[in-house]
Amino acid sequence: MAIERTLSIIKPDATRRNLTGKINARFEDAGLRIIGQRRVRLSREQAEAFYAVHRARPFFNDLCSFMVSGPVVVQVLEGENAVAKNREIMGATDPAKAAPGTIRKDFAESIEANSAHGSDSLDNAKQEIAFFFSGLDIVP
Ligand code: CMP
Repeated sequence: MAIERTLSIIKPDATRRNLTGKINARFEDAGLRIIGQRRVRLSREQAEAFYAVHRARPFFNDLCSFMVSGPVVVQVLEGENAVAKNREIMGATDPAKAAPGTIRKDFAESIEANSAHGSDSLDNAKQEIAFFFSGLDIVP
């Protein structure tokens, strides 16, 4: 299996409830390494640019408002099969459909306030990592 990198975001509902450490432990316990990490308050422009692919969706405006409502933690995770592994650890987008033991099942408040974002493909991971991180900020 290939060593991959993926972008993760711990969302405002989770930082508000002081869950950063608990969520990071899920990644590390599953063998992913956090090789870049920054706590930031996104601007509206950044949130809209990051989620541009969803611009036409009915939930776009509410999603962007939520993502700027508090701090987020942006992070680069590295490990074997990191893109798929991270999505497995997070669980389904809708916490009501997420498997037991996943981040979203255990922590998410709603489909919007679903505690974590993870890249959905290796190509998107590369773009999303470059959106937030310069090479110097990633320390394997
Ligand atoms: P995320 O993985 O960050 O990607 C897009 C986000 O849109 C998603 O998680 C959800 O938090 C949010 N969202 C809100 N409503 C919906 C919906 N109906 N379907 C999919 N995503 C939604």
